[in-house]
Amino acid sequence: MKIGILGSGNVAQSLGAGLLKHGHQVALGTGSPAKLADWSAQHPKARVGSFADAAEFGELVILSVKGKAAVEAVQAAGAQRLAGKVVIDTTNPIADAAPVDGVLQFFTGPNESLLEQLQREFPQIRFVKAFNSVGAAHMVDPSFQGGPPTMFIAGNDEAARKTVSGIVRELGWDVADMGTATAARAIEPLCMLWCIPGLARNEWTHAFRLLKRS
Ligand SMILES: NC(=O)c1ccc[n+]([C@@H]2O[C@H](COP(=O)([O-])OP(=O)(O)OC[C@H]3O[C@@H](n4cnc5c(N)ncnc54)[C@H](OP(=O)(O)O)[C@@H]3O)[C@@H](O)[C@H]2O)c1
Repeated sequence: MKIGILGSGNVAQSLGAGLLKHGHQVALGTGSPAKLADWSAQHPKARVGSFADAAEFGELVILSVKGKAAVEAVQAAGAQRLAGKVVIDTTNPIADAAPVDGVLQFFTGPNESLLEQLQREFPQIRFVKAFNSVGAAHMVDPSFQGGPPTMFIAGNDEAARKTVSGIVRELGWDVADMGTATAARAIEPLCMLWCIPGLARNEWTHAFRLLKRS
């Protein structure tokens, strides 16, 4: 599949490398391509260009920019270019304020989410939340005691959730489909929970798994 990734940070680089490894074609989009010179040299098959280039390239697109810049990055990519496409939203609404006792602060409240804001702002795009509740280093082919971890996903379009479930499984995860975008109110704060051991004790090697009674 041709996958465009909006972003140049750890998530974009990790998913970009992983998707290439799994046989996909990848284009990363950024406002500053120079930032990706080293990554590009290591991944010569990947394209690097503007946000608009990556949006145009992708049959499926991944949004992996700073939460506060999510709307701006989609605008830079061009909402029209993304119309009808599935966009995996990896972002978290992390505020600039410092964490409190290892707990990140969000700029959203409990009965809202960044995914819902994006979906309201760009109704023509089929957003699906995924990959926000684990560190970039574990996003592809995660290896943990106790089997594959669980990726919680949500989005309004059922077919889009199915497409994203396929990719998430291909990258080594179990999927828990939580339904419509409203569920992101619960999925985004998993990022806070995931980061507590890291911020409090510098432990970053864990992931969530949903256990079900057989
Ligand atoms: N890091 C992780 O382990 C992790 C794990 C799960 C989820 N997440 C979430 O995934 C997202 C990406 O995280 P990250 O750590 O890879 O990167 P990041 O440092 O949070 O964000 C870097 C990206 O944000 C873009 N950006 C910043 N300000 C912008 C603006 N005003 N307009 C447009 N773009 C702007 C940058 O653009 P340029 O390319 O132009 O510099 C860059 O691509 C975040 O929302 C984060 O919360 C991160």
